[in-house]
Amino acid sequence: MSSQPVKTQDIPPPLDASMLDGLSDPVFLVDPNHVIVDYNRAAKDLLGKQALSARMDEFLDSEDIIGAIDETLGGTPGGRSEVFLPHPIGRYFELNIWRLPDLKSVGPAWAMLVLHDITESKKAAQMRADFVANVSHELRSPLSSLLGFIETLRGPARDDPEASDRFLEIMENEAKRMTRLINDLLALSKVETDEHIRPEQLVDLSTILSQVTDILLVNAKERGIEISLELPKKLRAVQGESDELIQVFQNLIGNAIHYGRENSVIRVVVKKCRLPDTKEKGVAVSVINEGEGIPAEHIPRLTERFYRVDKGRSRGMGGTGLGLAIVKHIVARHRGHLEIESELGVETAFTVSLLSVKR
Ligand SMILES: Nc1ncnc2c1ncn2[C@@H]1O[C@H](COP(=O)(O)OP(=O)(O)OP(=O)(O)O)[C@@H](O)[C@H]1O
Ligand SMILES: [Mg+2]
Repeated sequence: MSSQPVKTQDIPPPLDASMLDGLSDPVFLVDPNHVIVDYNRAAKDLLGKQALSARMDEFLDSEDIIGAIDETLGGTPGGRSEVFLPHPIGRYFELNIWRLPDLKSVGPAWAMLVLHDITESKKAAQMRADFVANVSHELRSPLSSLLGFIETLRGPARDDPEASDRFLEIMENEAKRMTRLINDLLALSKVETDEHIRPEQLVDLSTILSQVTDILLVNAKERGIEISLELPKKLRAVQGESDELIQVFQNLIGNAIHYGRENSVIRVVVKKCRLPDTKEKGVAVSVINEGEGIPAEHIPRLTERFYRVDKGRSRGMGGTGLGLAIVKHIVARHRGHLEIESELGVETAFTVSLLSVKR
């Protein structure tokens, strides 16, 4: 803070910040006593209207910003830096600060500050980095297992046809898992690219669901599981893309088979509904399986890429951890809704609601 306080009302502010009301970034002007002497609309929204004519530190809880103001008013050329504001919700900003009038002038000076919210871009950059790390990790483990078996087949197992057969089978499974991973990644990237284009076909869900249950019947039988499809007498069509919807229900019923109790029944229940957000008419499909269920703390994260409650178990079954991420994106592209409910030790239900249309 300056040792010689300047009475701000005596000096007209060098700029009218209301000229910057159209700007979405908060802009404000601070005098040598750290009093906010002017701000634009975005800064008013961020700090509140009491902030005008008040000391900045009462409204902005950031030592970094206070330090930058002191340095700028003290004659250091302004610049950019990153600051974190913990209130009201933690967000990252790029701070741009400069002195008014410029450094050559003598006498009182003001500091002009612009805050640009970079929380979303930081989050996206982190997600990209995590994603690449995850993909590399997921590919590395089958690859190193393949390399290990190749070495064994060339060395110790060279003259052991029985062991060779067993190892080749494991190698085939690992290679298949990598193929599945690549296919799932491609499917995910395709839905993400198309997410803003709404599908336009009219789709009959009863046909799709019968098709999917037929495909998965063999896998279900292996675990002694039956699939019961419960359809209403009359069913409106939904607006969608059949290949993508087949993928959604294949993933959901596939999970119910993998994670459901052996020798139980999976119920696929189709009902008329209202979409939760818009209250528009729709069709809800619930895939319900008996089983251990999913602890509540995992539920919000299940649709994240590679998120698995039990990594070892999912991998052991050849899972990639991308199934529900694909479901989420397809449902979002359809402007639909996905709900996950689970009662531990009893049952788990994944419900997809889609907009319906008159045929
Ligand atoms: N019906 C279910 N009951 C219990 N847990 C489930 C159920 N469905 C999904 N999960 C949990 O959610 C996780 C993520 O499911 P997701 O389908 O995305 O991946 P995955 O099944 O592991 O692999 P894949 O991508 O090959 O389907 C699973 O690993 C499992 O822990
Ligand atoms: Mg799955």
